[in-house]
Amino acid sequence: MSGDSREHWTGRTGFVLAAVGSAVGLGNMWRFSYLTAEQGGAAFVLLYLLFTALVGLPVMLAEFSIGRGAQRSPIQALGHYGGPRWRWLGGVFVLAGFVILSYYSVIAGWAVRYGVEAALFGFPADASAYFSRVSEGWDAFAYHAAFMALSVIVVRGGVKDGIERAASLMMPALFFLVVGIALYAATLEGASRGYAYYLNVDFSKITDWNVVVSAAGQAFFSLSIGMGVMLTFASYLTRDHDLPGESLLIAVSDFGVAFVAGFMVFPVIFALGLQSDVIGADTGTIGALFIALPKAFATMGDAGRIVGVCFFAALIVGALTSAISLLEVVVSAAIDGLGWGRGQAAVRVGIAIGLLGTPSALGIAFLDAMDTVANQVLLIGGGLGLAVFTGYVMRDPLVAAREGSGGFDWTPVWLPLLRYGVPVILGAILLSSIPATWSKLVALF
Ligand code: PHE
Repeated sequence: MSGDSREHWTGRTGFVLAAVGSAVGLGNMWRFSYLTAEQGGAAFVLLYLLFTALVGLPVMLAEFSIGRGAQRSPIQALGHYGGPRWRWLGGVFVLAGFVILSYYSVIAGWAVRYGVEAALFGFPADASAYFSRVSEGWDAFAYHAAFMALSVIVVRGGVKDGIERAASLMMPALFFLVVGIALYAATLEGASRGYAYYLNVDFSKITDWNVVVSAAGQAFFSLSIGMGVMLTFASYLTRDHDLPGESLLIAVSDFGVAFVAGFMVFPVIFALGLQSDVIGADTGTIGALFIALPKAFATMGDAGRIVGVCFFAALIVGALTSAISLLEVVVSAAIDGLGWGRGQAAVRVGIAIGLLGTPSALGIAFLDAMDTVANQVLLIGGGLGLAVFTGYVMRDPLVAAREGSGGFDWTPVWLPLLRYGVPVILGAILLSSIPATWSKLVALF
């Protein structure tokens, strides 16, 4: 589908909300917090901010320019600007959509179960035992399948009536929940110890290459870039959008929500003295927050139950608006490439991804390995591919980026960044992280 028959957003707000909905999700609340705890607090946050601004934002604008210019889904869009030789890169994006959603939805499934059961029965007394029960096995699979079904329902609804509507209803709610919880957390005794950890930069960590590598992966994951989500969303844009301005707004919002999420997580953890469960915990950091936070909520009585349910509600809402964007990449590729109808494509792709999530639902080590492969290889590699493509292959990228722009135009620094800065940085990160990713994969077998 292209030209007039292509679906479109209702306008600027609809598009921005959908894109922010994609960006803001488990990455901002769960992944950001646990990595910040694991990787040394504010030093990690600072690096993540740098990557967001200097690497992430240019790649996002690259995706926007390609997507809106081509008015096509990833594989076709890259073919449109680069010829058939470049379609493979779009194929990698679709593959990344499969991989990421297959485990993302498992984690979202945990959140659904936590939220529902906490609302009905309160938080469990033994949070670790609860987490082991909930996080692996056929129960986890069932919640993952239910979450996938929900995502399919939204994506079947289409760009305006499905994705945009879901984001417009849910993003404001998420915003109020996150800010509300952060304000509540500030009233806890001992909250300041949490702030101290979160906000004091340990400069020795900034030069720790491992911290640099995970900050880069986190920036890509959190912004939903490097795999064609933003490209696909931009393919439903009309030519009057201010792409430089809108990309800036989306990146700022995404960072903002992650930053505020730290203000809900760290005070709660430190006020209840649970920091050793999360910080420097060498076993299962992926699950640490799913254990420490419910523990905290359980000790906080009725208030804890309410705040906790709100926390999981925010997590679920964020996860859903992100999951639908991941699903949309694969669905749009199937619509354009295979000629399937939207409904048919959503259901088939949803079932395929649901099944692909089985090993992640059955074992957290597999899930963790998928997360590493997705972030450090697929997204970083995808970002590198996009930078090279836009910087060297695409004709007149500046024209595509500037069309319709009116406000603050930062495109003069955009192309130099894409041509020189971004490829060097991402290339170094990609190469250096391959051994660790490889050994994580090998350890599975
Ligand atoms: N950005 C989403 C989050 O933070 C996850 C995501 C990654 C969505 C990649 C789409 C593509 O949760």
